[in-house]
Amino acid sequence: MKIYHLNNISDFLLLLLCFLGDIGLASTGVKVKPICIEEERKALVSFKEDLTDPSRRLSSWVGHDCCQWERISCNNCTGHVAKIDLRNTYPHSTADEKWDDMEYEQSCLGGKINSSLLSLKHLYYLDLSWNNFEGIHIPKFFGELKTLRYLNISFAVFAG
Ligand SMILES: *[C@@H]1O[C@H](CO)[C@@H](O)[C@H](O)[C@H]1NC(C)=O
Ligand SMILES: *[C@@H]1O[C@H](CO)[C@@H](O)[C@H](O)[C@H]1NC(C)=O
Ligand SMILES: *[C@@H]1O[C@H](CO)[C@@H](O)[C@H](O)[C@H]1NC(C)=O
Repeated sequence: MKIYHLNNISDFLLLLLCFLGDIGLASTGVKVKPICIEEERKALVSFKEDLTDPSRRLSSWVGHDCCQWERISCNNCTGHVAKIDLRNTYPHSTADEKWDDMEYEQSCLGGKINSSLLSLKHLYYLDLSWNNFEGIHIPKFFGELKTLRYLNISFAVFAG
């Protein structure tokens, strides 16, 4: 069973449409794709601008529909950004022969975490693990992300 948090009437209408869409379209195999909400797109752009990204891992973060950007998942019904998965997938084991300090450094995101993330009112998943924030303090505003259920800042060089 899915549990939805309804903040207002428009969310309710979207959910109703989605529900009807599911019944109507499931049998035809048609998938309804969510479209990004403009305010949330702007929040992600601000977030991106404050990050350093030497290997351009966030290069797909352009254009109107942020639900199509890599590492972003939107709720399939409402289009709200639900998940940001920025785990660095560079092979992690320092015992690995292929491990290269320079390459690893290049693959890391860093910089600052913009509090624009607070505009993502339905974000439940945020993974920043294996990046390098060079000892900046864990942002206080993380505590205000009310819908967050999963936060991973392991091996991301945060302090505090
Ligand atoms: C977040 O990004 C916006 C737009 O780029 C900028 O104006 C603002 O100062 C940033 N906020 C913080 C806390 O750095
Ligand atoms: C949206 O639907 C796709 C496939 O139908 C699924 O893989 C994905 O996990 C769903 N996303 C969310 C946030 O529920
Ligand atoms: C957090 O991220 C690390 C590194 O990516 C991973 O090994 C660990 O399993 C994650 N923790 C949880 C609780 O998912």
